[in-house]
Formats: sequence, structure tokens, C-alpha cells
Amino acid sequence: MKFSIIAAVDDHLGIGKNNDLPWHLKADFKNFVAVTVGSGNNAVIMGSNTWRSLPRKFRPLKDRLNVVLNQDVNLELPAGVLLFTSLDQALASLATKNLTEVFVIGGARLYATAIEHPDCVKLYLTRILATFDCDVYFPALPDRFKLVSETEVQSEGDLKFKFLVYQTNPS
Ligand SMILES: NC(=O)c1ccc[n+]([C@@H]2O[C@H](COP(=O)([O-])OP(=O)(O)OC[C@H]3O[C@@H](n4cnc5c(N)ncnc54)[C@H](OP(=O)(O)O)[C@@H]3O)[C@@H](O)[C@H]2O)c1
Repeated sequence: MKFSIIAAVDDHLGIGKNNDLPWHLKADFKNFVAVTVGSGNNAVIMGSNTWRSLPRKFRPLKDRLNVVLNQDVNLELPAGVLLFTSLDQALASLATKNLTEVFVIGGARLYATAIEHPDCVKLYLTRILATFDCDVYFPALPDRFKLVSETEVQSEGDLKFKFLVYQTNPS
């Protein structure tokens, strides 16, 4: 089952601190919703720490099938949220569901596995042009990912950022 990764990173590929995002960027939330909801019928896969990091009022993420990875199969989740113990198990199950797109949405541990997966074909990266105090990082991009689009630098408050898309087989 082909899938994409979506992440926001700082200058040093930092993505989080104390199980939270180090920044608050409305434009990035908006982009995250637009990309992952798309035209509907999409799934998002996340590690259990990322699930816990979502404010209760926002989880499960609406209009998307939510999938959580965790070793403990007794993790309590709301009805409709799927739980698997590995990325491959999750992808195998999602492959039977006739979904339009599947996104891995973090965090660091899941990104590290997902980016090396042969079915990971696209990467949506928000590059925040700043350095934050982070305790978790996005992995280095393997060479097979090629940049296919890049927006102008945008700003919100003091923050500057741009949206990049990478693909493994750009045509
Ligand atoms: N900037 C961004 O775009 C972005 C996006 C998402 C999250 N984040 C940040 O990332 C941080 C959380 O990242 P994290 O690395 O601590 O946690 P995580 O990847 O969200 O969750 C880790 C847990 O999920 C399970 N898991 C992860 N990958 C797995 C795999 N391949 N197979 C099976 N289980 C897997 C494991 O459960 P077990 O412990 O049971 O093994 C692991 O403990 C937070 O700071 C969050 O705010 C940032």
C-alpha cells in the first residue's frame, strides 16, 4: 500500500519537544488538514505518543480514518480508531479498505521506520526557517526522494516557512 509522509521540521530537522510541537503555526495546521483530508476517504497513521499529543477535542482527527501504532494492544482508543503493532500490519489492513491516500503523520519513531519503507513514495515537508529547542527529530532524507515542488517563503508572526513536496519517482 503506497503512502505519504507529512511533517513540519525546523532548520535542524527538529519536530517536537516534550511530546508537543515547539511552534504554533496556523498556516501549517491548515495545510496539514487540506493535504490529509484531501477529497475525503484518506487515512492517517501515527505513533501512540503523537496520538497522546493531540488535544482531546481534536482526536480522532476528523474526516480521516485514524490509525495508531503501539505495542500494547490494550491501549484504549475511541470507537473507529484502528490499532496495530507495526506499520506493515497497518498498511496491509488499509490496503483492503479502498482508501484514496494514506499518510504517516509522526512522530519521530514512526517517521524513522516509514521513510525507509519501500511503499513510502511522497513526502510533504513544511520547512520552518528557524531553530527550536527540540528533543525529537525527523530522519535524514534518503537520496531516492527528489524535490518536486516548493512554495515561496511565507510568514506568520515572526516565523518564516515554506511547503515542499518530494517524490520517489517524479515524472
Ligand atoms: N513536527 C511534526 O510534523 C510532528 C508530527 C507528529 C509528531 N510530532 C512530535 O513528535 C513527538 C512524538 O514522537 P515520538 O517519536 O516520541 O513518538 P511516536 O512515533 O508518535 O510514538 C511512538 C510510539 O508509537 C509506537 N510506534 C511508533 N512507530 C512504530 C512502528 N513502526 N511500529 C510499531 N509501533 C510504533 C511505539 O509504541 P510502543 O511504545 O508501544 O512500542 C512508540 O512508543 C512529539 O513531540 C510530537 O509533537 C511532530
